Amino acid sequence: MPLKITLKATDPLNVAADIAVIGIVEGASPKAGVLATLSKALGQIVPKTLKREEFSGKKDQMVEFATNGKLKPARVVLMGLGSSALSTAQVRLLAAKAARFAQAGRATSLSLEIPFGVTGGERAAAEGVVLGAYRFTKYLTGDRLPKSSLESVTLTTTARLDKTARANVDVGRQVGESICLARDLINEPPNELYPESLAKYCQDMCKERGLKCTVFDKPALQKRGMKLILAVGQGSTHDPRLIHMVYTPEADAAGGKRAPRKKLVFIGKGLTFDSGGLCIKPAQGMEDMKGDMGGAANVVALMAALSVLKPNVEVHGIIGSAENMPDGDAYRPADIFTSLDGKTVEIINTDAEGRLVLADVLAYGRELKPDLMLDNATLTGACIVALGTLTSGFYANQDELADKVKVAAREAGESMWHMPLIEELREGLKSDWADLKHTADRWGGSITAALFLREFVGNTPWVHIDIAGPSMAQRAYGIYSKGGTGHGVLTFLQLIEGYAAGAPAAG
Ligand code: BES
Ligand code: MN
Ligand code: ZN
Repeated sequence: MPLKITLKATDPLNVAADIAVIGIVEGASPKAGVLATLSKALGQIVPKTLKREEFSGKKDQMVEFATNGKLKPARVVLMGLGSSALSTAQVRLLAAKAARFAQAGRATSLSLEIPFGVTGGERAAAEGVVLGAYRFTKYLTGDRLPKSSLESVTLTTTARLDKTARANVDVGRQVGESICLARDLINEPPNELYPESLAKYCQDMCKERGLKCTVFDKPALQKRGMKLILAVGQGSTHDPRLIHMVYTPEADAAGGKRAPRKKLVFIGKGLTFDSGGLCIKPAQGMEDMKGDMGGAANVVALMAALSVLKPNVEVHGIIGSAENMPDGDAYRPADIFTSLDGKTVEIINTDAEGRLVLADVLAYGRELKPDLMLDNATLTGACIVALGTLTSGFYANQDELADKVKVAAREAGESMWHMPLIEELREGLKSDWADLKHTADRWGGSITAALFLREFVGNTPWVHIDIAGPSMAQRAYGIYSKGGTGHGVLTFLQLIEGYAAGAPAAG
């Protein structure tokens, strides 16, 4: 059942709910606002507890009170907000933490105050509660099913309510739910999710949301000459697919005058399972490779979110999907294949399959002549070695573009780090027998993977994000849940907003 979110102009302590979560800025006077109301209702226990717990509103501090019928919420939780200048990303984070905390405490209803005056606060809060309450329970039965779930959230605000504020809450809920689609896809087991079923999922999603979707099956890929995607998938009984989704602003779709606006391409690596192929991976941790389609899942989530947000840009979401398996038909080290753009590639390690799939998709996306082509992929373990599991690494072939991504990620509250395309390392991709080999030596593996991809983008403004670390989480943290996270989607939306703002209004 989807989470019900309502917006009310009232005091959060005035809402009947299992839990009321209230953010407190650092150094807030205990004699004013919510703290005063709380003390008045519950008495001396409030200042005493705050003192004992040394609660001052510092970030991540938390104190809980049972109200014993003296206030409408059964429990009141104070969460420290730290500095008073809150960003939208911090509001989203607070809301996610509140929802997660409430659900873990078996609350079915939550009231949460949106910190006053944050622009976009309503939307961010709605996104946050949806993301925080997310759990993947599809394959649990009986006792393993959660005993209760968060069902309703009342967002309260001291600001005046208008139609826009309510619409923003609804948009936020739908954007949050879109990101949860990415999480669902990542968490889905690989016996259920394979290239064909992923393509079917995309077609259904696009049909439901009025987007265009074209799927290339094996014969279509052969006809197009996408031999690298085919090579990666040839050891699997599940044939590969290329999935091309398109969002077009309404004015255009209706056949109106074509408004001048940007064309953006978002690409995702969609390995529904990566065993490593003949260069098979160690058994330990191989189960995590069901998530090797995190980039593809993000693209699905992005397209779903765009159908809600309807920005004035044309966005293409393109997924290269395959399953990397060892078999008598599997591709092997020393094989040479011709990519879509004509370059020949010598295979070195069949576990470096993602860049092969992406090479064909990048060459395909480039033909659309976009203003931006961004790929995201769970591409290298080396990127996790470099940055840890919480941060993705991004590369760009233009400095201004890198700056744009950096700002967008910061605004979105996602941890991304700009990585260098070190020209000297290109040497390592030289092959004696083909135009390129697809892996260099061991060191700088995330960089050499990016350099390999760059060979296929031509002059297109291009960004590559290696999400191998944060695409899945070992435990819930921040706005992310355990398992698939959807890390990246909020940054994409932020970027797109920038491109849309530069264009004249649709009409
Ligand atoms: N899908 C993996 C990368 C990965 C590792 C993602 C861990 C998430 C968590 C990718 O296909 C891979 O196997 N890369 C190899 C490349 C190497 C063979 C050059 C790697 O990183 O070891
Ligand atoms: Mn691999
Ligand atoms: Zn992989």
